[in-house]
Amino acid sequence: MKYLLEPNDLTIREIDELIEIAKDIIKDKSRYQEAAAHKILATLFFEPSTRTRLSFEAAMLSLGGSVLGFSEASSSSAAKGESVTDTIWTVSCYSDIIAMRHPKEGAPYVAKRRAKVPLINAGDGGHNHPTQTLTDLLTIHREKGRLDGQTIGFVGDLKYGRTVHSLVKAMARYEGTKFVFISPVELRIPDYLKEDLLDVKNIEYKEVTTIEEAIGEVDVLYMTRIQRERFSDPEEYLRLKDSYVLDLKKLENSKPDLTIMHPLPRVNEIAVEVDDDPRAKYFEQVENGKFIRMALILKMLGLENKIERLDKTEIHSVINPNTQDKKDKSNTVVNVHKCNNPRCITTIEQELDHVFYLADEETNTYRCLYCETKAE
Ligand code: CP
Repeated sequence: MKYLLEPNDLTIREIDELIEIAKDIIKDKSRYQEAAAHKILATLFFEPSTRTRLSFEAAMLSLGGSVLGFSEASSSSAAKGESVTDTIWTVSCYSDIIAMRHPKEGAPYVAKRRAKVPLINAGDGGHNHPTQTLTDLLTIHREKGRLDGQTIGFVGDLKYGRTVHSLVKAMARYEGTKFVFISPVELRIPDYLKEDLLDVKNIEYKEVTTIEEAIGEVDVLYMTRIQRERFSDPEEYLRLKDSYVLDLKKLENSKPDLTIMHPLPRVNEIAVEVDDDPRAKYFEQVENGKFIRMALILKMLGLENKIERLDKTEIHSVINPNTQDKKDKSNTVVNVHKCNNPRCITTIEQELDHVFYLADEETNTYRCLYCETKAE
């Protein structure tokens, strides 16, 4: 496995295996403390982070490896105008594996072209966040014992929330998944997920505007923050920022075994009174992030079989056969369309061609290869 840019770069079997390894690590962490000795992880964070960067670093240190990197673009030569491509090419000379976060959507697809070592997308703008997805899948698996047959309610900023986009892509691959999207009209999930995935694959979903409309039917309630940094209009952010605040009253009609998740950071969308409720699992989710990243580092470095597992039982998730094919992005046109997404990597990497792929033959829809924005 040379790169992880979006969740569906992994097969279901690979995800099952990562969950198996993470659970084995949880059983007895001490066995893994030298598993990645002498290996170096580079964490390149062009955008702020607490959990993703520190859990990656804690994961590598817990495997006996070392870490280097930067936590803000201003302390790297990006501040002098160095391109993403040159940064990655350079850091490939100093490390065995790279985790990169960038505010521009599609940046990892550009970085991949010059990465000489395994590359992990640690979040690209409002687009994807595949290692948060792995964290979320491990959390759901630990809570429910399986990934199929779940009804998931996503709440909040579903337009800019990259954790939502990635988890929708991932959960759509399991049999019996149903989605409830709870958001203000302005922050509904992007069309590309509805049109290219949910509608064409006949996956059940509905869009509502209040938590109360859906609380009784969901197995997992996935809260998200309204993403201030993605809004071009600050007035719109101020109007929408307090759209949802989950408190114990709103949870009164939930299923007793509801799992409440949040990728964090939270601002005020979950009242602190919920934190000690047995349904609240967002800090368990934080800890799971370290274990699944340990598993991912081992797998991407080809070290996953170095430690004998205590429990050799394999997980075999029940899949939706309609959603197993990988998106075909091979039918492309170059510099015919121009991406109009102000958050796309093409807006800052001047030498990049504007490449669009044929997303739907029937409607002749083309989408940007980097950020998936539809061609005008
Ligand atoms: N969940 C997540 O990505 O958190 P950070 O922004 O703190 O890394």
